[in-house]
Amino acid sequence: PPDGPLRGRHVVVTSGPTHEPIDPVRYIANRSSGAQGAAIAAALRDLGAQVSFVTGPAAVPPPPGVQVLRVETAAEMRAAVEAALPADAAVMAAAVADWRVVNASGQKMKKDGSGRPPSLEMVENPDILAWVSRAEQRPSLVIGFAAETDNVVANAVAKRQRKGCDWIVANDVSPGSGVMGGTDNTAILVTAENVEHWPRLPKAEVARRLAERIAARLAEAAE
Ligand code: C5P
Repeated sequence: PPDGPLRGRHVVVTSGPTHEPIDPVRYIANRSSGAQGAAIAAALRDLGAQVSFVTGPAAVPPPPGVQVLRVETAAEMRAAVEAALPADAAVMAAAVADWRVVNASGQKMKKDGSGRPPSLEMVENPDILAWVSRAEQRPSLVIGFAAETDNVVANAVAKRQRKGCDWIVANDVSPGSGVMGGTDNTAILVTAENVEHWPRLPKAEVARRLAERIAARLAEAAE
């Protein structure tokens, strides 16, 4: 394995969207490209970490040199994260669907001629970040993401508390920010101690900074 400050460390990274089936040919999804998650996995690998990369159906390919665990739904993602534990750190960058269809049909749904569309009953998905933050095998450092369109810092501070994670990487995804599907990101790192505003940076550079911070934090904890 490559040398570096994360040598001998295991980090779980979630990335990409999830797909929640409606029937065998239809699903509910979101516009996450998986670009930031893939960049984070690559940056952790470059610092010597063993990376379990749990990815939904993303537009961006997984980086080489990480263990790729492909999933489709939030339920599968949660199970894959659980199976990947124990880990020193977890970075939950996936855009997990908040809801899934209660009884996805086993057959393709068809128009019945009545002109009335079907109604889909939905149920909340497991919150993987909140779950891992309270898991028996909780990694010593758990990091969540927060894509916000308003009150970015206040929402991120509240989210950190609510989810029980250590850090939140917040970003402004307002229309016009260009973050969703774009190459750059403007991140705010919220920890228990402070709120750090990072400049607008390429996603690869945000990933490198975050990986450095993770390495520093795990080294501190080991002292
Ligand atoms: O609550 P919200 O979706 O804004 O929180 C975003 C953070 O929570 C991200 O780190 C995301 O990966 C994680 N999350 C999760 N499981 C969910 C919903 C969000 O892990 N069901």
